[in-house]
Amino acid sequence: MNVLVVGAGGREHALAWKIKQSPNCNDLYVAPGNAGTAAIANNLEIGVNDFEELGEAVLNKGIDLVIVGPEEPLVKGIRNYFNAHNQLNNVLLVGPDEVGAQLEGSKDFSKDFMVRNKIPTAGSLAVTADNLSEGLQFLKKLEAPYVLKADGLAAGKGVIITSDIQEAEDSLKKMLDGQFGAASQKVLIEEYLHGIELSVFVLTDGESYMTLPEAKDYKRIGEGDTGPNTGGMGAVSPVSFADAAFMKKVEDKVIKPTVEGLKAEEIHYIGFLFIGLMNVNGEPFVIEYNVRMGDPETEVVLPRIESDLLSHLTAAAKGELGKEQLEIKTETATTVVAVAEGYPGSYKKGRLMSGLDHNFEGIVFHAGTSASNDQTVTNGGRVIASTGLGSDIQSALDQSYENLKLIHWEGMNFRKDIGQDLLSL
Ligand code: AMP
Ligand code: GLY
Repeated sequence: MNVLVVGAGGREHALAWKIKQSPNCNDLYVAPGNAGTAAIANNLEIGVNDFEELGEAVLNKGIDLVIVGPEEPLVKGIRNYFNAHNQLNNVLLVGPDEVGAQLEGSKDFSKDFMVRNKIPTAGSLAVTADNLSEGLQFLKKLEAPYVLKADGLAAGKGVIITSDIQEAEDSLKKMLDGQFGAASQKVLIEEYLHGIELSVFVLTDGESYMTLPEAKDYKRIGEGDTGPNTGGMGAVSPVSFADAAFMKKVEDKVIKPTVEGLKAEEIHYIGFLFIGLMNVNGEPFVIEYNVRMGDPETEVVLPRIESDLLSHLTAAAKGELGKEQLEIKTETATTVVAVAEGYPGSYKKGRLMSGLDHNFEGIVFHAGTSASNDQTVTNGGRVIASTGLGSDIQSALDQSYENLKLIHWEGMNFRKDIGQDLLSL
């Protein structure tokens, strides 16, 4: 079958890499893709939100299955666009519709969904300019630290956590005043959860589901989890503290009620669900839902899948996921993200890269690169995700870091401590 992956990051390179291994994969396209996807698939120069052009390409190239990588086209309704189009409504697509995508697109919607479906999560209050005084009173009742979340999509920057009540009050007012534009016209004030975070990934067709390998990511730019948040500087799978007893609780208290809740509320959900969890003294609490795979988590989750991902994705899109059997490797996977100088602040693109043609052990996924005149140049903040595989975290990390020694561009930067916290658990 002919497949289109929508997106341009390390997640999409990993999806294309895994899909390509399927005996059922004929022509593989990525829109817009990067230099890494260009080497294994056909890149199409189409933006992820350009539904019309994506639809035309699907018809012209005879594409049977579309996998949507990032959240933005989902929140903007790419599935609704395909469904409403009389030539595209039979094309298989992995990704929820506009309503399902609100699980990520609106923190208030997802919190209400969790409360209605009795899914454990932090207590909260939704605040707009109309009930600001109620919001300020709610803050006073909470213990520090205080968590403020912009309701809408804010490119991963819309969460503010502070232990200073004055700063929390000022931030609440600033957010409602438009700090994150329309995304923070509504703000969720949340109780702070103390624990260790992990991410759980589920593929569902709205009836059945399969739980993919879990992962832990490293969000901050600096070693020892310091400095500003990024899209993710590394990831590890499996996560040692997510033992069978904990994962059983996740399944019973979070995954099943989520899938059943979606069904009961007639949100016909086909796609990935990425559940951000806090392990609070052995109990799972949902921090957030995302309606896609994580990046860089995908770069450790997919290399741990033994079975045919294309077969699982096709079955999910057809509503036949119940027939599929997921097989997972016992190996550990780690990925270390190398970023541009200055990231997550402003950074330069177009830096010439070298060393990418080595015969790497493990997999060097491209995140922000582009091919230009037979050369590869940087084209984003997160540039490369170097994935290693091994019998334990240390051997996987050794491979991730060995690969990075072979790659170079001016200003290349990466964290040296990915996975160290798990080594000492
Ligand atoms: P979110 O965008 O909702 O995932 O929030 C970003 C990050 O803020 C999370 O990955 C957590 O590290 C942290 N966070 C969010 N909500 C809470 C909470 N209620 N308690 C503690 N930490 C939180
Ligand atoms: N790595 C976090 C995310 O993909 O949202």
